[in-house]
Amino acid sequence: MKVAILGIDGYIGWPLALRLLSRGHEVVGVDSLYTRKRVAEVNSDSVTPILSMEDRIKALEENGLGRIKFYKGDVNDPDFLYRVVKETKPDTFVHLAEQRSAPYSMIGLSQARETLMQNMGGTLNLVYAMKDIVPKAHLLKLGTMGEYGTPNIDIPEGFFNVKYNGREDYLPFPKFAGSWYHWSKVHDTNNLMFANRVWKLKITDVMQGVVYGTQTSEINKYNLYTRFDIDEVWGTALNRFCTQAVLGYALTAYGKGNQRRGFLSLEDSIKCLTLGIEKEPEEGEYRVYNQFDEHYSINELTELVAKRAKALFNRDVEIKHYPNPRVEKEDHYYNPEHKKLKELGYKPSRNLPEDIESILKDVYKFREKAENLRSVIEPKTVWEKSKGN
Ligand SMILES: NC(=O)c1ccc[n+]([C@@H]2O[C@H](COP(=O)([O-])OP(=O)(O)OC[C@H]3O[C@@H](n4cnc5c(N)ncnc54)[C@H](O)[C@@H]3O)[C@@H](O)[C@H]2O)c1
Repeated sequence: MKVAILGIDGYIGWPLALRLLSRGHEVVGVDSLYTRKRVAEVNSDSVTPILSMEDRIKALEENGLGRIKFYKGDVNDPDFLYRVVKETKPDTFVHLAEQRSAPYSMIGLSQARETLMQNMGGTLNLVYAMKDIVPKAHLLKLGTMGEYGTPNIDIPEGFFNVKYNGREDYLPFPKFAGSWYHWSKVHDTNNLMFANRVWKLKITDVMQGVVYGTQTSEINKYNLYTRFDIDEVWGTALNRFCTQAVLGYALTAYGKGNQRRGFLSLEDSIKCLTLGIEKEPEEGEYRVYNQFDEHYSINELTELVAKRAKALFNRDVEIKHYPNPRVEKEDHYYNPEHKKLKELGYKPSRNLPEDIESILKDVYKFREKAENLRSVIEPKTVWEKSKGN
C-alpha cells in the first residue's frame, strides 16, 4: 500500500514510518518541520537525540528500509498539497500535520489564530485534494480524546442514540474541548463528517488519548529515536513527569490532580494506527475510534512515577500541586468507550506502570540534555491570561 504520512518528522509520524516501511508499505513523507521550529522558539528541544530529516531518510536506506519520497512544505498551502497528491497518488493518507500543543494555542490571539487557521486549513485542503485527485483513497486523521471534554455521562465512539421530545436519532456526541487546539480538532471532525457526507470520502477519525514513551520495536531495533518533548508548552503529562523525576525536580501536578485522561504507549499508538491503515473502512464510510488503553488521574500518574523513580534511583520524588494554569474540571466522571479497535483485532502490548521504567531509563541516558532544559519545565502558560492583540 502507498501511504502518505503528513507530519512524518513528528513524535508519532517518525515511528509510524519505521513501522510501515518494515511491513513492506511504500511511504511518502510530508512535513514543514514546524514542530522543530516552534519548540526551539521556546528554548526547548527534544531530550532524545533526533536526526535531521535528511539524515533520517539516509538512515532508512542504510538500514535496508528503502527510499522514501519526502516533500518539505506546509499542508495549509493548497498549491503545495495538490502538487504532492498529484505526483504521488497515495492509497492512504495519515494526517498528523497539525499544531498539537494545547498550551501553545492558549499563549495569545496570534497562536490561537495560527492553530485554528492552520489546522483547519490543512485538513480542508486535504479533503479537497482527495476528492479531486484520489477520491477512493482512505484518510486516517488524528483527532484527540480531548475533543469530548469531561461530560458527566459515558463517552461513546463518535456517535450515540439520543431520545428527545419523544423522537430518536443517532447523532454525533456533543464536544466540549478545553483549548483552542482541542477546538481546532473538533472543527476538523465536523469538516471531515461533512466531506464524507457530500463526497463519500473514506475516513477514519481517531480520537487519540495522550501518548507516552520513547520506544517502539523499530526505534529499539534501528536505534533511530523519535522526538521527546518535556517543556511546559510542548511536553505531555507522563513524559514530563518522568523527566522531572530523573532531574530530581518536583513533579508538576496541576490543581487538585484528580483530572483523568486516557493514555496509551507510543508502541500501541503505532500499532493502532497501522491496524486502521491496513483494515480500511468500507467505501464511503466515516468511522470514529477512541484510541487509548487505560485512564489515569494526574495524582495516580505522579504517584506511579515517584514510586518507580524511588525504586530505580533510590531517591524521594516530591509532588508539587501548582495552581491549575488550565480552565478544566478537577473532579469529574470519566468513562469513554473504546471497543472498536479491539473489534478490529487490536491487543495492547504495553502497560503504563511497566513503561514508566523504560521512559525513566531512556531519559536517564540523556539526562545532560534534559538538565539544560530545566528553565522551560515550570508551567507559565495560563489559560485565563491568554494575550489579546
Ligand atoms: N502526542 C500525543 O499525545 C497526541 C495525542 C492525541 C492526538 N495527537 C495528534 O496526533 C498528531 C501528531 O502528534 P505528534 O505528537 O506526533 O505531534 P508532532 O508535533 O510531534 O508532529 C506533527 C508533525 O507535523 C508537522 N506539521 C505541523 N503542522 C504542519 C503543517 N501545517 N504542514 C506540514 N507539516 C506540519 C510538524 O513539523 C511535526 O513534525 C497531531 O495532530 C496531534 O494533535 C497527538
